[in-house]
Amino acid sequence: MQIIEKKVEFREALLSWYNREKRDLPWRRTNNPYYIWVSEVMLQQTRVDTVIPYYERFIKAFPTMEALAEADEHDLLKLWEGLGYYSRARNLQTGVKEVIESYGGKIPANRKDISTLKGVGPYTAGAVLSIAFGIPEHAVDGNVMRVISRLLLIEEDIAIPRNKKIFEQVVMDLIDPEDPSSFNQGLMELGATICTPNPKCLLCPVMDFCSAFHEGRQDELPIKTKKTANKTIPIAAYALQNEEGKWLLRKRPSKGLLANLWEFPTVELTSGSSPKKQIEKEMEIVPKNMEELLSFKHIFTHLTWDLKSFTARINDPIKLLSNYQLFTAEEVNALPMPVPMLKIWEEIKKQRCMDE
Ligand code: ADE
Repeated sequence: MQIIEKKVEFREALLSWYNREKRDLPWRRTNNPYYIWVSEVMLQQTRVDTVIPYYERFIKAFPTMEALAEADEHDLLKLWEGLGYYSRARNLQTGVKEVIESYGGKIPANRKDISTLKGVGPYTAGAVLSIAFGIPEHAVDGNVMRVISRLLLIEEDIAIPRNKKIFEQVVMDLIDPEDPSSFNQGLMELGATICTPNPKCLLCPVMDFCSAFHEGRQDELPIKTKKTANKTIPIAAYALQNEEGKWLLRKRPSKGLLANLWEFPTVELTSGSSPKKQIEKEMEIVPKNMEELLSFKHIFTHLTWDLKSFTARINDPIKLLSNYQLFTAEEVNALPMPVPMLKIWEEIKKQRCMDE
């Protein structure tokens, strides 16, 4: 690892660039720590452009921590619909309740206490402490590790969790004690706009300080071992309507992938069995007029659904298991559903010219 000798000059170069070039983002117009917290939770794993409308709707619906604490899980998930990683929303609500119950409604302004809140890991803690409270604390995510690995030519594998503390220590050494908020956001902004996987070094405000650039090795960094290929699961989803025209949906279990979201019933497809036979076997439902709808892949973090979807009619009476329910089209519109299911539902509405 190299060192940055001229720390003060480095800070000055980063901050003057950040203050000149920073994007005008809604969470940069507030000091409200709750709003910063919401934005940082949304920004984990999700791009800025995607987050903006979600952030604005969320703040409007739950303008205070008390409002979020009292929110119905259904409304919360509906607002989060399409953002993915839904446990983030539930954890945020739990964390906010903890602030109200244990900290008198004030988000604690130190790493030890804020880190006890549900869903608040080292990154979120540092981001809220630095951005909302101006406390010099590291906020290191994947983008920041990429920036720092190039600046100091750090060759440790960023895919190994324990290596993260190397980067956190570097940030604690470099951080501007006068303006930790702009310093951390400057590193994030650099990672998002210039020090990208294919870096635009000639536009970089800190190229003079960058060891990887001096050695022409920016494209080799960061070192990141490949994850093992994720599993692909062939799956069929059935949009089933009863004689009244109501749709049969299922609420997913409260733990695991897409917890508590609603979906058209799915079954894993096994080779040698048709989607029609499979649903008859697994759900004891005999579908009529089955028609194939969309086929597509949906990639989650650890697995991929290779999804085929079907529409069909079912005869009453239907034996409803506890997590199944029949809904009118209007009611389906109001349910929180994961993106692949929304795609299927949108296609059905398009084909049948159904109004919103
Ligand atoms: N990514 C994570 N946090 C961010 C922030 N505060 N601004 C822009 N991008 C970010």
